[in-house]
Amino acid sequence: MTSPILTISNLTKRFGGNAAVSNINLDVIRKETMAIIGPNGAGKTTFYNMVSGRMQPSEGNITLDGKDITGLPPHKISKLGISRSFQINNIFPEMTVQENVEVVLSAYHGHSRKLFNIASRNAGIQQEAEELLKRLGVDSLKDRRAEVISYGDKRLLEIAMVLATRPKLVLLDEPTAGMTPEETRRTTKLIKSLADSGDYTFLITEHDMDVVFDLADRILVMHRGEKLFAGTPAEVKIHPEVRRAYLGEEEDEVTGETSA
Ligand SMILES: Nc1ncnc2c1ncn2[C@@H]1O[C@H](COP(=O)(O)OP(=O)(O)OP(=O)(O)O)[C@@H](O)[C@H]1O
Ligand SMILES: [Mg+2]
Repeated sequence: MTSPILTISNLTKRFGGNAAVSNINLDVIRKETMAIIGPNGAGKTTFYNMVSGRMQPSEGNITLDGKDITGLPPHKISKLGISRSFQINNIFPEMTVQENVEVVLSAYHGHSRKLFNIASRNAGIQQEAEELLKRLGVDSLKDRRAEVISYGDKRLLEIAMVLATRPKLVLLDEPTAGMTPEETRRTTKLIKSLADSGDYTFLITEHDMDVVFDLADRILVMHRGEKLFAGTPAEVKIHPEVRRAYLGEEEDEVTGETSA
């Protein structure tokens, strides 16, 4: 149960002479929610790009479920079970919410090359799409055209589409970015219920610290490309170096003393 689904060893990415990601080691445990935080330019997106195959590492290894996936192209990594949240323009605007999920499910089941009759296959896909939309709390919108639903609902639809591929590891890049406070609360609660179901492993980047502390079982703190700390939210909150580097606090604020 505690075996890692993803193992990162000495992962490094250099652009010219600068290391955007420097010698990161990390295990992501099956069914946990791991958040990656760090100031602007810390290397979070670069790290993500290497895990999803969009960038080749300069050094190091990435292992998914025991298989070395270092440097594989994105479509191969996606087939092997790492699914990344897309931007909203991956949604087909003229299709209904439900049809959008069905398209992904059809492609997914197409890959499995099983022979089953078309009617029962379609019925199965329809039912699966409905269940996913229900899990994301957007089933009441299933017959609406995707282009008319709210921004927050589009992002939830996008997560439903990611989950439709039954990924081993779900990468969510700032899932609440651009949302209203109400949408953020709702989305956080939904992701938490998905995480609590034990069906998924999440790797999330997020700037909103309330969301991070709500969702994460563990947090990787990056700073200038390096791993500054990895630990539980409670450990991160009290870690003096993290508070200085990331939360931008002065030492006297941490200790509660005031400077003269
Ligand atoms: N394609 C690239 N070419 C050159 N330098 C890059 C490239 N991509 C990122 N960098 C540099 O790598 C460093 C890390 O960038 P990255 O985008 O990974 O940070 P981040 O943690 O995602 O920041 P943010 O919070 O702003 O999204 C930065 O100094 C950035 O300028
Ligand atoms: Mg980024």
